[in-house]
Amino acid sequence: MLELNIKSKSEKDTIKLGYDFAKELKLGDVVALYGELGAGKTEFIKGLCHALNVEQMVTSPTFTIMNSYIGRLNHRELSIYHVDLYRIKNVSELDEIGFDECIHSKNDIILIEWAEKAGNRLCKFDYTVRFELDDDNENIRLISIKSTVN
Ligand SMILES: Nc1ncnc2c1ncn2[C@@H]1O[C@H](COP(=O)(O)OP(=O)(O)OP(=O)(O)O)[C@@H](O)[C@H]1O
Ligand SMILES: [Mg+2]
Repeated sequence: MLELNIKSKSEKDTIKLGYDFAKELKLGDVVALYGELGAGKTEFIKGLCHALNVEQMVTSPTFTIMNSYIGRLNHRELSIYHVDLYRIKNVSELDEIGFDECIHSKNDIILIEWAEKAGNRLCKFDYTVRFELDDDNENIRLISIKSTVN
């Protein structure tokens, strides 16, 4: 069981947090990320992907909905699916990216920004990561990471 609440004071802190969190992950994990526009979800994912030895550029899949990267975990190659559901208008669009197959696959890791937009199609997730902005300081984010109790 993992439950962390962290105050990030910079983009760098958030990237480091993603990097450190990656060591918790195992093949098949689904990570649901929540937080408004500009909250830091993609920055966190950049750190996470760096820790998983991704060499490709990690960018927001805002228009493509899903990016896939190749990484390594415990000396094994794996695919990392980076999904951003902000722009989807209907959950049926999830079929086009093979969402159900991705979340049930045992051989990769899937990271979902705007996970709330998947509704009840997100029937399995292993971690939730929530980002909150601070009213007084534009560089502060309150980040909570929780593992799912199964
Ligand atoms: N503590 C912080 N942690 C993360 N990002 C920060 C922080 N302080 C400032 N920033 C800035 O906030 C922005 C976060 O952008 P990012 O793309 O990660 O947001 P996002 O949550 O993925 O948004 P979107 O929903 O649009 O995909 C970046 O421009 C970054 O420089
Ligand atoms: Mg993003």
